[in-house]
Amino acid sequence: MKINGTPYRSIWLHPEDSTIVQIIDQRWLPHRLVIADLSTVEEAAFAIKEMQVRGAPLIGATAAYGMYLACLDAQKAGENLAEDWLAKAYDRLLDTRPTAINLHWALERMKKTLASVESLTEKAALALETAQQVCDEDVDICYNIGQHGLPIIEEISRRKGGEVVNILTHCNAGWIATVDWGTATSPIYQAHDKGIKVHVWVDETRPRNQGARLTSWELNEHGVPNTVIVDNVGGHLMQHGMVDLCIVGTDRTTYTGDVANKIGTYLKALAAKDNNVPFYVALPSTTIDWEIRDGLTIPIEQRRVNEVIRIQGLDEETNEVKQVLLTPQQSKAANYAFDVTPSRLVTGLITERGVCEASEEGIRGLFPG
Ligand code: MRU
Repeated sequence: MKINGTPYRSIWLHPEDSTIVQIIDQRWLPHRLVIADLSTVEEAAFAIKEMQVRGAPLIGATAAYGMYLACLDAQKAGENLAEDWLAKAYDRLLDTRPTAINLHWALERMKKTLASVESLTEKAALALETAQQVCDEDVDICYNIGQHGLPIIEEISRRKGGEVVNILTHCNAGWIATVDWGTATSPIYQAHDKGIKVHVWVDETRPRNQGARLTSWELNEHGVPNTVIVDNVGGHLMQHGMVDLCIVGTDRTTYTGDVANKIGTYLKALAAKDNNVPFYVALPSTTIDWEIRDGLTIPIEQRRVNEVIRIQGLDEETNEVKQVLLTPQQSKAANYAFDVTPSRLVTGLITERGVCEASEEGIRGLFPG
């Protein structure tokens, strides 16, 4: 998608130096567009953990590139230490964020691929090729999610006689959370590009405000009308018929259709159920956990309380991006980063292969392998 009219992906190889991976450092958006260089596995791990990059598919893509950087690091350490080095790099990257399963998926893919060649030179070349494949595939997958989600929006638009379709989303499942297009936003971008009138209610998504900072920013960049709301507004809007549809992303979906996503998603799903508002979850198949049956056993990340007790924004007087203290200094805080929406509250899953019921039957119907 475009920033200021220039097409971007969220991660790419440095055009002049193939030992450097570049990312948009999302910690500074929307106030600064900072491009960061990653040249070691440690920098890739830091980028994921500190949320320079975030969003399940992009976490996976960064980990894939992280293993490429690990191969380059290992070349410096020497051929005889390579296996040990790569195993440590795998663990280091896996340890960064526990909920998004794309991380594990990407690392496993890299591990299996790298095991197929012997020398470090071959491993490095293959790692780069595979990381780039992971990214290209993610772009295609997200585009196809949009293609399959589009008819849902078209149908509502038809029913409303071409009136604006109001869509509520939570957190950021936009292009900046993937390599391009986004998951929840892909049908929205494609509907907008087709001339369907859409408007997005953007949950601010405390504590890190991915909705207010990132979703609103990227929708603005693409010209999609949107309104930022605080996290507790959605239920009220639904009661008053102001939401036609919810579409959210997910960090991990069990093969039975339970959905882990950014904290607060569950409450929106409950409100949607109570008000007969369709609640869809958009996901690439790389986000499906084929081992976990019960969503409540998905590991839920707990992050630093600093994210709750402080808030970041632009000081318009000094033009500095700053954090300020929000709570009494001595207040205790807790920071649960994700929650689980049971499949019974999900109207359907929008995947790259089509839309299915949030159930084992529905998921296996689309992904029999
Ligand atoms: O903590 P984050 O910002 O990585 O959480 C992101 C989300 O919850 C997204 O909804 C999810 O990763 C879907 S990404 C297309």
